[in-house]
Amino acid sequence: MLIIIGSRREGNSYNLAYKIKEVCDKERIHCELITPGNQKIHLCTGCMDCDKNGVCDFTDDMKDNIEKIEKESLIIIISPTRWNLLSGDLKIFMDRLNPLYSTNKLKDKKLILITIAAKSKELYSSEASLSSLTSFAESSQMNVVLKAEFNNCLNANDILNQEEKINNLIKNIIKEASKS
Ligand SMILES: Cc1cc2nc3c(=O)[nH]c(=O)nc-3n(C[C@H](O)[C@H](O)[C@H](O)COP(=O)(O)O)c2cc1C
Repeated sequence: MLIIIGSRREGNSYNLAYKIKEVCDKERIHCELITPGNQKIHLCTGCMDCDKNGVCDFTDDMKDNIEKIEKESLIIIISPTRWNLLSGDLKIFMDRLNPLYSTNKLKDKKLILITIAAKSKELYSSEASLSSLTSFAESSQMNVVLKAEFNNCLNANDILNQEEKINNLIKNIIKEASKS
């Protein structure tokens, strides 16, 4: 599986991704992490050349990312909530996935969506970011097999207080990975 981490800081998204990877490594399940914010990724210009031939004119880290996504059947996206939306780093990353979208290569890939927010669930914080990721999945016809939201995570390690929820989520992720 491939985990796309939507935050650059070694915070909640990063902590959760590493917990998942730790278990995958123990279970000998392939698990690779990508943090787009720490990579060299140009902004999409919207030229639409990729709509014609499925190839982006830029040569940067997205070339490798696209090759990896093409091979993977299970992808996890973890996003911090920013202004009730997904993170900007993820939006840039998703725009640059258009070469895969335009050639129908995202269709039917299994996707797990996880959002993290500082506010409580009643304030719909993580729900709003989850909904923006869900729209992406729907447009690209990816198959969302699991969704999870973590709230009350303001500081970098706050998510680690939700151990039971993390363990349950990882169990379900491993189940999905075993089916792939
Ligand atoms: C620019 C910015 C905007 C944010 N907007 C929201 C928000 O709308 N709702 C919310 O609950 N948390 C918001 N947060 C808090 C983050 O979602 C929260 O701290 C999260 O745990 C960050 O994940 P990370 O540790 O992986 O970076 C925002 C944080 C930043 C930096």
